[in-house]
Amino acid sequence: MKNVVKIDTKAGTHKIDKNIYGHFAEHLGRCIYEGIWVGEDSPIPNTRGIRDDVVQALKDLKVPILRWPGGCFADEYHWRDGIGPKEERARMINTHWGGVVENNHFGTHEFFDFCEMIETEPYICGNVGSGTVYEMQQWVEYMTFDGESPMANLRKANGREHPWKLTYFGVGNENWGCGGRMRAEYYADLYRQYSTYVRDYGENSIYKIAAGPRGDNYHWTEVLMREAGHFMDGLALHYYTRVMDHSIVLTNPDGNKIYLKNPDAVRGQAVDFDESEWFGIMKAAYFTEELVEKHSAIMDKYDPEKKVALIIDEWGTWFDVEPGTNPGFLYQQNTMRDAVSAAISLNIFNNHCDRVRMANIAQTINVLQAVILTEGDKMILTPTYHVFEMFNVHQDAILQPIELLTGKYNYKGEEVPQLSVSASKDAAGKLHITLCNTDPRNPAQVDCGIGDFIAKEVSGRILTSSSMNSHNTFEHPDQVKPEPFTGVQLNKESFHADIPPMSVVVLTLN
Ligand code: AHR
Repeated sequence: MKNVVKIDTKAGTHKIDKNIYGHFAEHLGRCIYEGIWVGEDSPIPNTRGIRDDVVQALKDLKVPILRWPGGCFADEYHWRDGIGPKEERARMINTHWGGVVENNHFGTHEFFDFCEMIETEPYICGNVGSGTVYEMQQWVEYMTFDGESPMANLRKANGREHPWKLTYFGVGNENWGCGGRMRAEYYADLYRQYSTYVRDYGENSIYKIAAGPRGDNYHWTEVLMREAGHFMDGLALHYYTRVMDHSIVLTNPDGNKIYLKNPDAVRGQAVDFDESEWFGIMKAAYFTEELVEKHSAIMDKYDPEKKVALIIDEWGTWFDVEPGTNPGFLYQQNTMRDAVSAAISLNIFNNHCDRVRMANIAQTINVLQAVILTEGDKMILTPTYHVFEMFNVHQDAILQPIELLTGKYNYKGEEVPQLSVSASKDAAGKLHITLCNTDPRNPAQVDCGIGDFIAKEVSGRILTSSSMNSHNTFEHPDQVKPEPFTGVQLNKESFHADIPPMSVVVLTLN
């Protein structure tokens, strides 16, 4: 079956917030240490302890926002451990992630330094699970108060005269789970309390983000919006793309869900998988749309003007760790399957940008669906990096509504849409279209109407491979990388494209 797309190039009103292309870096495994921070004395080229190759790659990627320090780590993190002379900083155990020693050498100052280097907006997640209101209030004062105060004076004594600009602040993380195993009702009250003391100092205005639901826990969204919706700017949904869920889910009589670890579950390997696991990930990626729509519908009830953003501040694939690596480090390789599933998710976020205004892939380096992998002084870019780079044309562009009649990708009696698409018009008036073909065996013939958009030329790039499992390695870093795409013909008011199996394509019309 042919795929038919109609882009309404006259009707676009919503901006695709560039923060949809955001990132997440946690003190977990080799994300911060080795991935970002190597220390001033490292033989790996660095600036003030931060590795230069990673800075360049992330600058090239145009990362708009970076969430830190967790994750589950955030609700165990006490920020005062991570300031002052490095040799005097507290050494703690990272109990959640591998039980390794955390020496706190990467703390608040280093995080802001890194954000400045990669030209990104900081997004800090505070500790509700094991921290106090006072501790959170003091951290915000330390970072943002310009004047005479105990915390501002401490910051100055630590070498930073002027406050940083900090807009995005998360009040806790996964407080239904690692952030305190709370009920929605209890967290909603705590959110109201903690967020009261997250103050705006001077010109600095904080955008407050509440810890949202896991996956399809609609009860959490309902309670949070009802009890605390007026006090938040964003609600953070977490959803990981997995072949099979790792949890046993029990539902209380009040509708609240409890997630228990399923000891028998396997998530499958990141590289060594077959078509059933390819299909499972495509299906799980498409499920993002149902989640976004259902959580948005609840939010619409309490916030019809869509003042509160739905923020997906943890998303991405989650497989079993690479054999032989620390199970607490969540290190996985990244294949063409990750690339196609990222493209599906990003197209969904774009198409729902009236409510979805930020998303943060988990995680930037060496953890889960990373865009960068490192090994000693070597660094590689993953297929997911290339998808983010191809899609960054959408950042802050105007979404162009589409009608899509797609063929199906069938596998053993089940099916998912073969084609995923989104389109935007940028400030220069160029039309950008991102498409992906989820079927690993069949090409997708696409006819796309562009209304009365006047296009003189079309250009494109493609990310594809001959095998589902193709990936980049330290020996062969360019196995999967974007190439020019020539399978497109421009006609009057339309174009025709021939999208190869398992591929991601970006087209620009001008
Ligand atoms: O990204 C890894 C972990 O997944 C995060 O720490 C936590 O928030 C989530 O469960």
